[in-house]
Amino acid sequence: MDMVTPVGRPEALITALRERLGAAAVLTGSDVPARNCNDWSASLPQTPLAVIRPLDARGVADAILTCRQARLPFVPQGGLTGLCRGAAPEAGWVAISLERMTGIEEIDPASMTMTVKAGTPLETIQKAADEAGLFFPLDLGSRGSCAIGGNLSTNAGGNRVIRYGMTRELVLGLEVVLPDGTIITSLNKLMKNNAGYDLKHLFIGSEGTLGIITRVVLRLFPKPRSTMAALCALKDYAAVIDLLGAARSGLGPLLSAFEVMWPDYWAVITNRAGVKPPVAASHGLYVLVEAQGTDESVDAPRFQALLEELMERGLLVDAAVAQSLAQTQAFWRVRDICAEFGQVLGPHISYDIGLAVARMDEFATRCRAALADGIKGCESVYYGHIGDGNLHLVSWVTGLPVEQQPKEEMDAIIYGLVRDMGGSVSAEHGIGTLKKKWLGHARSEAEIALMRTLKAALDPDQLLNPGKVI
Ligand code: FAD
Ligand code: LAC
Ligand code: ZN
Repeated sequence: MDMVTPVGRPEALITALRERLGAAAVLTGSDVPARNCNDWSASLPQTPLAVIRPLDARGVADAILTCRQARLPFVPQGGLTGLCRGAAPEAGWVAISLERMTGIEEIDPASMTMTVKAGTPLETIQKAADEAGLFFPLDLGSRGSCAIGGNLSTNAGGNRVIRYGMTRELVLGLEVVLPDGTIITSLNKLMKNNAGYDLKHLFIGSEGTLGIITRVVLRLFPKPRSTMAALCALKDYAAVIDLLGAARSGLGPLLSAFEVMWPDYWAVITNRAGVKPPVAASHGLYVLVEAQGTDESVDAPRFQALLEELMERGLLVDAAVAQSLAQTQAFWRVRDICAEFGQVLGPHISYDIGLAVARMDEFATRCRAALADGIKGCESVYYGHIGDGNLHLVSWVTGLPVEQQPKEEMDAIIYGLVRDMGGSVSAEHGIGTLKKKWLGHARSEAEIALMRTLKAALDPDQLLNPGKVI
């Protein structure tokens, strides 16, 4: 791909930007915060020439037009919790951060929608929906830091996909600034709108390569009136599949999460992360099942009865059912603790594989063995949103700093197996630059060619986040 070489005088660019957007909107030199130099991935930070922090779509368009005059590449940044360098700048680029574009513009209870600025943190949106007596179901471990524009741009998945779908399913409209500075305001609130192409889907999941999202119309849902959670221990993966079927048929639309943890994950969180396990160790697999309903007095006994029946049938070896909100939160802590793997395991590489649900354990077994055989000292642990066909794994060699971790060798083993088993190299985190080399393991040449055609149509000068994804 052609990369644009910056020309013109960067100092003139900075002066022009400060004049257009105000001094507070433009950070340069030693004022560039460290956080804007990288995302959450284990990769080396790069300092951008400037961080621009507009207040609205017009400000984003001004920033883009000024960068274009100097032919400087620019990268959109949300909460910077991405895991594949999608929001990371290269040295000399301009970062356009949405961090000052926060706030809820409208909650419409009749159409069950919320209109928000794209830099708003996910957790703020969840709380605002709750205060309005409604529910926004997207939920990730990074909820306190990630921004809704970043969630759209990565088509984030998370904990409740099994019930509500990925971010794409939760969006009705958006406003976006194109790489040429055109503002497209498409804040659709209608559930049904087949008037021509549904343009929002071009930008959802495109990792900031086709436009910068500035506002979003989200779908809201009725607030759950009951939440039930159980941590189950099972003897093997066949039992996990049976449990998934039983939970689907027994709980129907109430089933809101089905998170599986392999024994190696359990060992790390209990022995090294200090988690007090709700069920004893030494089982084949562990599953966090969550259901959300509309009437506690009906739903809780129904949930309890289902688990008792499954215990009697011998499908569950052990199970703990949360008796309070605090216990539900403690169960989720078991799953969310992986956010602290950086401190717990030290430097490691993380993966988000898409796979047929039936073959997850086969993959884990083959992958663990292939990594241990192929890379001296390589360890790995497995967990994930198994009800959605999404396995996570982290792998590492103890004692090596991040830049010496054998990432290339790990990638080759893991993504080779993913290809052989007909999976995807990214179920939810995206491609960024870290998985770019492996895109062809999950998408055909024709698909990638069409992606390039779209990119060239919208950004012929390759100035918006160049070199990412494709
Ligand atoms: P950023 O990291 O800032 O950016 C991500 C990408 O979107 C970049 O390519 C960037 O250029 C682009 N972008 C950002 N804002 C905009 C915008 N306004 N317009 C256009 N492009 C933009 N992900 C999941 O899917 N599921 C999980 O369960 C999950 N759990 C996580 C848990 C932890 C502890 C962490 C650290 C991360 C997790 N993630 C998960 C990954 C990450 O949180 C998501 O990808 C999230 O959606 C990124 O949002 P962000 O605002 O931080 O985006
Ligand atoms: C999770 C992140 C890693 O599910 O996607 O914990
Ligand atoms: Zn995940």
